[in-house]
Amino acid sequence: MRVLGIESSCDETACAVVRNGQEILSNIIASQHDIHETYGGVFPELASRRHADVILPVIQQALDEARTSLDAIDLIAVAYGPGLIGALLVGLNTAKALSLACQKPLIGVNHIEAHIYAALMAQPHFPEFPCIGVVLSGAHTSIFEMREIGHYTSLAQTVDDAIGEAFDKVAKILDLGYPGGPRIEALAKEGDPFKYPLKPGFVKRRPLDFSFSGIKTGVLYAVKGQNGIVSSMTSLSEQNKKDLAASFQRVVVEDVIDKTLKIAKERGCRSILFGGGVTHNRYLRQRFAEKAPEMHLFWPPAGLSLDNAAMIAGLGYHQHLNQPQQESLSIRPQTRVSL
Ligand code: KG4
Ligand code: ZN
Repeated sequence: MRVLGIESSCDETACAVVRNGQEILSNIIASQHDIHETYGGVFPELASRRHADVILPVIQQALDEARTSLDAIDLIAVAYGPGLIGALLVGLNTAKALSLACQKPLIGVNHIEAHIYAALMAQPHFPEFPCIGVVLSGAHTSIFEMREIGHYTSLAQTVDDAIGEAFDKVAKILDLGYPGGPRIEALAKEGDPFKYPLKPGFVKRRPLDFSFSGIKTGVLYAVKGQNGIVSSMTSLSEQNKKDLAASFQRVVVEDVIDKTLKIAKERGCRSILFGGGVTHNRYLRQRFAEKAPEMHLFWPPAGLSLDNAAMIAGLGYHQHLNQPQQESLSIRPQTRVSL
């Protein structure tokens, strides 16, 4: 079964063709980082306009690279949320138009769930269920138990910024540009991760939840002083910047690892599936492997940790097998959806 996946929830316009939920025939991603860099984050209206400009060429390219045509597609899968409303609408309406014009079934896919499915795409065997899912992206930080594909219990989330957002905001404070995650990671390689005494966030009465806004303020104070006038970015040496990036990265990564492992232990799970752009981070992967050698860690394969449409097509295939008579033209975009 050939599935055409479409993704436009944030700042990547993506289309992919995937056979039987696993074999990626094409995976095209048109990134918009160039237009959002100036703002240090995603500018929603500009994101929607760029999606509208490039979505058809991106779909055509995905079909061409897969050496196929719309006629040979069996199902269209599209991300319906969570995401930016205007951005989601472009992908969703394009998918509906194609479905109607070409008489193909259409299925709506949850973007967060698809991030986790990405970790299974290069696997010959699925993990032992139940397992733990961890999504770390620009918009989400959540840990949940997965009993099987499509069945989840949410166990922890962020109460303010998402982890990727915190990386992006700290990068903005350090004047590193957008997206911040890869730039912080690169800078942190030459820094002392224990130089700055930053602290992980603590959520009262919900000790497994995350809060990243405090540590971001901690970085701001380290740069500008407590009252904002003691020093400026320009007075921070290059080495201080590296130390600050390394200290921030260490604290947030250790926080994620400790909470995830606590949850996995409590639930008696031996496998952890990861998804989302932040799981690209090598330091995170290395520290997880060091701290949990007994766990089976499923990282998304290359090209599937950041937003992409292969994960949408892959998960869409399974959803269609489980529920072939799903809704189609009535699918609505949703800015917030939980699992
Ligand atoms: O999954 P994604 O493409 O977008 C959402 O669905 O939100 O993730 C993008 C996020 C950005 O915040 C970016 O800074 C972060 O992933 N990111 C990283 C790294 N690469 C991307 N964060 C930390 N380290 C990285 N190497
Ligand atoms: Zn994402």
